[in-house]
Amino acid sequence: MAYKFIDLFAGIGGFRQGFEALGFECVFSSEIDPHAKEMYSQNFGELPYGDIREVDETLIPNHDILLAGFPCQPFSIAGDKKGFDDTRGTLFFDIVRILKAKQPQVVVLENVKHFKNHDGGKTIKVILATLHELGYTTNWDVLNAKDFGVPQNRERTIIVGSRRGVPFNFKKLTKKSPVAIKDILEEEGDFEYLDESEYTLIEHPKKQPSGLIFCGYRNKNIRINGTRENTKHLSRVHKQPNRIYDANGTHPTIASQESAGRYFIYHNQRVRKLTLKECFRLMGFKDDFKLMGSKSNLYNRIGNSVVVPMMEMIAKEVKCQLLDNAVSHYVPISLFDYLYVSHKANY
Ligand SMILES: C[S@@+](CC[C@H](N)C(=O)[O-])C[C@H]1O[C@@H](n2cnc3c(N)ncnc32)[C@H](O)[C@@H]1O
Repeated sequence: MAYKFIDLFAGIGGFRQGFEALGFECVFSSEIDPHAKEMYSQNFGELPYGDIREVDETLIPNHDILLAGFPCQPFSIAGDKKGFDDTRGTLFFDIVRILKAKQPQVVVLENVKHFKNHDGGKTIKVILATLHELGYTTNWDVLNAKDFGVPQNRERTIIVGSRRGVPFNFKKLTKKSPVAIKDILEEEGDFEYLDESEYTLIEHPKKQPSGLIFCGYRNKNIRINGTRENTKHLSRVHKQPNRIYDANGTHPTIASQESAGRYFIYHNQRVRKLTLKECFRLMGFKDDFKLMGSKSNLYNRIGNSVVVPMMEMIAKEVKCQLLDNAVSHYVPISLFDYLYVSHKANY
């Protein structure tokens, strides 16, 4: 029998694709954005429920795994409790009430790289303490998409919790050898090339430790008041949408705010914009994934998504470590409280 999962803050189903690839079955989804819901429905044949705050947790089907890439909001911490009570009024509270009611074996949460620093570190502290209060042993790490077969430098915080008290070993996730932007490019298409007068290439670009090769910038007219003599170009360079990256390296993070899709690459001695299809490939989506709606909506959707092959690898290890072969390490909750430690992948 397939393990069942629920897909919260589902977006366009990046998490779902990764877990379905390992044979998991989705029994419930929720997403508030109408465009994301429509895309989800067209691709998975299921219209997600809307606002999670309005969903009665007792009506959600039983499941083994709760998945959520939730928006991060500050908690108003009353006193020193740093747990369940502090999460009221946030979207994490909705995850908590579902965990409380349905008690799935596993919870997997995804968030931005700097999640651990959000609100001075209070957010992650409250979240780990709350999961612990609910009986979950938690482990977390920051993973990079470029280690999972896509040429994008995209770091994300992943928290995995197990009700059986089994620690999740992030070191067991199989990493792949790096691929370059040029490996995922479309061979032909109606590409938006820049004229040579529209950009400047820098001499001797170097590959950065992240795999990025920053090789030039667009000559955009931008505000230059107040800039020092001979430094005007720097203000152009520092604007991410003006930067040009060599297709022999890795691409920077596809961002949800970049609704104009200003991602420029240098390939075959020319500079062009990435196509939408290439942006979806950078997130590990297959070409048969249906795209619909305006371009700006599609750029927002893909920038908000998760990288499918990374989720697939997490699904594989969740299945192996926490479900199929899990020997219960469960100890009574009070002893847990006493021993409470949440590990950042320290094997
Ligand atoms: C970071 S994105 C997650 C994207 C998803 N993991 C994917 O693969 O596409 C967060 C999502 O939560 C949704 N969201 C925000 N508030 C919500 C709410 N109250 N109920 C349901 N979904 C919500 C947003 O519309 C957004 O799509």
